[in-house]
Amino acid sequence: MTLDYRDRFHIPKGPDGTDSAYLCGHSLGLQPKSVRAYIEQELKDWEVLGVEGHFRARHPWVQYNKLLTEQTARLVGAQPVEVVTMNSLTVNLHLMMVSFYRPTAQRHRIVVEENAFPSDRYAVKSQLRFHGYVLAESLVAVAGEEELEDLLDREGESVALVLIGGINYSSGRAFDLARIARAGHAKGCVVGFDLAHAAGNLVLKLHEWDADFAAWCTYKYLNGGPGSIAGCFVHQRHACDESLPRLAGWWGHELETRFRMGPDFHATPGAEGWQVSNPPVIALAALRASMDLFDEADIDRLRAKSVELTGYLESALDRHADRGFSMVTPCDPERRGAQLSIRVPGSVRALWERLAAAGVVCDWREPDILRVAPAPLYNTAGDIDRFVDCFVRSL
Ligand SMILES: Cc1ncc(COP(=O)(O)O)c(C=O)c1O
Repeated sequence: MTLDYRDRFHIPKGPDGTDSAYLCGHSLGLQPKSVRAYIEQELKDWEVLGVEGHFRARHPWVQYNKLLTEQTARLVGAQPVEVVTMNSLTVNLHLMMVSFYRPTAQRHRIVVEENAFPSDRYAVKSQLRFHGYVLAESLVAVAGEEELEDLLDREGESVALVLIGGINYSSGRAFDLARIARAGHAKGCVVGFDLAHAAGNLVLKLHEWDADFAAWCTYKYLNGGPGSIAGCFVHQRHACDESLPRLAGWWGHELETRFRMGPDFHATPGAEGWQVSNPPVIALAALRASMDLFDEADIDRLRAKSVELTGYLESALDRHADRGFSMVTPCDPERRGAQLSIRVPGSVRALWERLAAAGVVCDWREPDILRVAPAPLYNTAGDIDRFVDCFVRSL
């Protein structure tokens, strides 16, 4: 498929000074060349206008976050009122749980996926402790959709929140989020998603799937830069729900009266009402450069190319199936995104070091998983050939 945005990115050089085969977009995406101009615009306005930039900058800072709303909504299948760019991922998960984890004596459990990313586990456990619940009784992990449905059939009335990752960080397995939302809602549970590995990778339809909330980071497939500002979704049906408790701050207050500095909080309708603080414009500018690229490339076309590239990687590896490694990620393209996780024999760290020395960039996770992801915006079949050749020689 011809969908070539590679030239629009800076490709890091390998040890020999030539372009590396960078297959690590599942960890940190590459820098779009346009980022510098987006940031320089804000630096210039700050230089020339100082505080006046809040209202007189080319893109007034007081509403800068709105410049990302439409693209973000299209990317995750949401209404504009349902999305906001703010904070970082785990912070957003906490903010969402403050509003949407409303335990009662009977309904207090939180269901997560098995082997969920540690930060999600820490966040969920600390929320349970905060509400005075005992982890052994209130935290449940399920392997997949079927196990979740069985659990909900048996004990759904005890579950307050189902919080599942769109794609598991270690296995690369994608969950059927529509099915999970249906199953959770049928039993009266709130359903939220961590889309760290799914945003910018899969085609998402958060509004249609009826998720209550979702949060994602933007430094992976979304190329927002290291530690970049995160995304958050709150379903439209909660947009004006004043009964939801929230940790409020002035930036969530409706814009029309925010600067009257009144004593009472009046939330902006929708996801923007969950903002707490004045957002970092320089970080928003970096992310905006990338979101504009995504919008131009179109997530449906990117996903189609991604399925091709990851399928190509899988077939190339299959030809060496006798070399003692095994595939952890499901082979059904519907059940995965760009990433393949490979269980390798021997030391995964030593293998990764040999790949890095040859200018092939991927990463590994304990104890024996090598993670490789062709990102459709900037990776090519040539990157994959280089990886497979080097991987097989290095085993
Ligand atoms: C699935 C998942 N959840 C949460 C996090 C934590 O993100 P942050 O440090 O941006 O809060 C990550 C980071 O890689 C992740 O992959």
